Amino acid sequence: MINEAADYISAQLTAKPALGLILGSGLGVLAEEIENPVTFSYKDIPYFPESTVAGHKGQLVAGELEGQSVIAMQGRFHYYEGYSMQEVTFPVRVMKELGIDSVIVTNASGGINQSFTPGNLMLITDHINNMGDNPLIGPNDAALGERFPDMSQVYDETYLQHAKSCAADLGVTIQEGVYVGNTGPVYETPAEVKMLRTLGGDAVGMSTVPEVIASGHAGLRVLGISCISNMAAGILDQPLTHQEVIDTTEQVRDEFLKFMKEIIRTLPNQ
Ligand code: 6GU
Repeated sequence: MINEAADYISAQLTAKPALGLILGSGLGVLAEEIENPVTFSYKDIPYFPESTVAGHKGQLVAGELEGQSVIAMQGRFHYYEGYSMQEVTFPVRVMKELGIDSVIVTNASGGINQSFTPGNLMLITDHINNMGDNPLIGPNDAALGERFPDMSQVYDETYLQHAKSCAADLGVTIQEGVYVGNTGPVYETPAEVKMLRTLGGDAVGMSTVPEVIASGHAGLRVLGISCISNMAAGILDQPLTHQEVIDTTEQVRDEFLKFMKEIIRTLPNQ
């Protein structure tokens, strides 16, 4: 299935992509900056699931961005939509088969760390898989990766330092922290947010962890960036809405684009 999907895509590409981009809620605009784009609607790619959430487009866009050969997911598959962990991570497998060796994973998330402010960008230094499932459960295909992958350095240290230096160069304020992956689709209760803070979480969302696990398994270098779209439940005296997530990501769009483009333009090879 991976090979068939990759063959379908590569037949229409002139260059091998080197960098994969997974663009979260409201952050898909980066794909619009890709030059000489070739787009693939998810529904046309063999074995690809179809995206269902508003604010997610549902296509792969390949081309050049800041001098790099990239392939971007404009919209991703979420576990809460009912997809299996294998379906959620299928595009990572396909992008790896297409030739990428690195991936930048983005999302919108709720701030758990009380020093964060909505609109902050957070570099993901580590994650907590709180989904109660794992994309690698089941027989291991040794051609894809190891049975027991090490996750101690899944967020590439060189990329983290690189992103920090890009933020400093651009004067972009950047937070760092641990991303907790919950299944959703509910937002957390205030008690759950307190628990996650005690456990060491700085931000919480409904994505990213499955794709990062599959990326680590595949030996891809990972950079994770979270847009803190709102504070998690119980921190501010206001209810959480998906509209707030959309509105905040829209407000930080220009800064996010500038930051991502600088990271990509100067991405280190070693
Ligand atoms: Cl507060 N929680 C979760 N699970 N996902 C989110 C969020 C909160 N805010 C944006 N995405």
